[in-house]
Parts: sequence; C-alpha cells; structure tokens
Amino acid sequence: MKRPIFARMYARVRPTLDQHGAAEHRRRLLAGAVGEVIEVGAGDGGNFAHYPAEVSQVLAVEPEPFLRAHAEQAAAKAPARVKVVEGTADQLPAPDASVDVVVVSLVLCSVPDQRIALAEARRVLRPGGELRFYEHVAAEPGRRLATVQRALDATIWPFFVGGCHTHRDTATAISSAGFTIEELDAFEFPPDQKSPASPHILGRAVRTG
Ligand SMILES: C[S@@+](CC[C@H](N)C(=O)[O-])C[C@H]1O[C@@H](n2cnc3c(N)ncnc32)[C@H](O)[C@@H]1O
Repeated sequence: MKRPIFARMYARVRPTLDQHGAAEHRRRLLAGAVGEVIEVGAGDGGNFAHYPAEVSQVLAVEPEPFLRAHAEQAAAKAPARVKVVEGTADQLPAPDASVDVVVVSLVLCSVPDQRIALAEARRVLRPGGELRFYEHVAAEPGRRLATVQRALDATIWPFFVGGCHTHRDTATAISSAGFTIEELDAFEFPPDQKSPASPHILGRAVRTG
C-alpha cells in the first residue's frame, strides 16, 4: 500500500505533534501494557519509545513502505523488542487468541472497514486481552464540526490525508465489535487549534466472551 506523499508528510509532522503533546498521549496509551503486543498501522514508529519494559515483544504491522522503513529505524532504538512487518489491519499475522494487547493509534480513521479491523483485533487477542486505542473521532452530533467532518469525508479529506476519515464513531465501533470499554478519555487535540481531526479518544477496552 504505497502512499508516498502522505507518508513523507506524516513522518515530518508526527515528531512535531509529539513535541506538542501527542507524546504524552502515546505514553498514556501504553502505560501498564504487558506481554505480547500487536500494533496495527505503526506508521513511522512513534509509539515504540513508549512501550514499558513489561512488554515482551511488539509485532508492529505497517503496510506503507516508506513509513515501514522509518519504523524499522525506530525499532532498532526502542527499549522494547519490536519487530516490524508488512501487513494490514484486516489480516494480522498472528494465530487466534495469541496476544495480550492490540494497539491502534490514529489508524482506525484510515482502515477501509473498522468492523473488519476490530474483528481481526479481537480474533488475535486472548480472552481478557486489551485493545489500547488513541484515535481522532467524529465530533458530537449537532456540533457544526460534525457537519464539516461529513462533508470533508465525502470529498477531499481521504484523498489528501492518506485514506483518513474524520467522522467515525470509533468508540461505538469498538463496543459493537465485542469489547468492553473500561477507560475512555475524550479531549480535543491540539487543544488550542480546532481542526476537523481535533476530537480524540484515548483508552482501554477488554475483549469480552
Ligand atoms: C496517521 S498514521 C498513524 C501512524 C501511527 N499509528 C501513529 O500513531 O503515529 C495512519 C497509519 O495507518 C496505516 N494504515 C492505513 N491503512 C491501513 C490498513 N488497512 N491496515 C493497517 N494500517 C493501515 C498507514 O499506513 C499509517 O501508518
């Protein structure tokens, strides 16, 4: 899945966003994670520095070759053991019920079908395993921003922003996919600068059943 222009832009912008607060979100996303982890759509590896020592291995799946190459460099410097592989959210390279944690960070906005991606995350998680999520999401219904998001998603946004969609109700999609959300923080980021991708959620859900 080649997205050369988006990939170059993201690898440039991501470290700046991290310096302005996203790094702290990544730290919170991964705090307390233990065991075997799959990270879906790892990008250039922005999360890798934040995995705690209790994580035994991270299998980082990334479809875009430019970002994957950057992720490999980040993996070499990461405190945890991180292996970067090619792949997509709809076909994770792991057996059923084999991992402790699946991490999705700013990726459920871009997958073609959230339902399929979340079913696949659930398949690889052992019962009681955790989905850690950090995603930008749809604005609350009735807000003018929600209308703007819908209009952008139907026109230019996915084309210019690597297949991203701004108006996805990701928390509902997570619950509907067989997870119980145990922690959810909703906030605007960046806090001082409204954008169609400002509303965020960060939290933890447990595989039910
Ligand atoms: C905005 S970037 C986020 C990267 C990284 N997760 C982060 O937190 O910085 C979106 C990522 O999703 C990846 N992606 C897009 N479609 C995907 C799919 N179907 N399966 C897995 N990853 C996908 C892109 O290649 C890109 O790395």
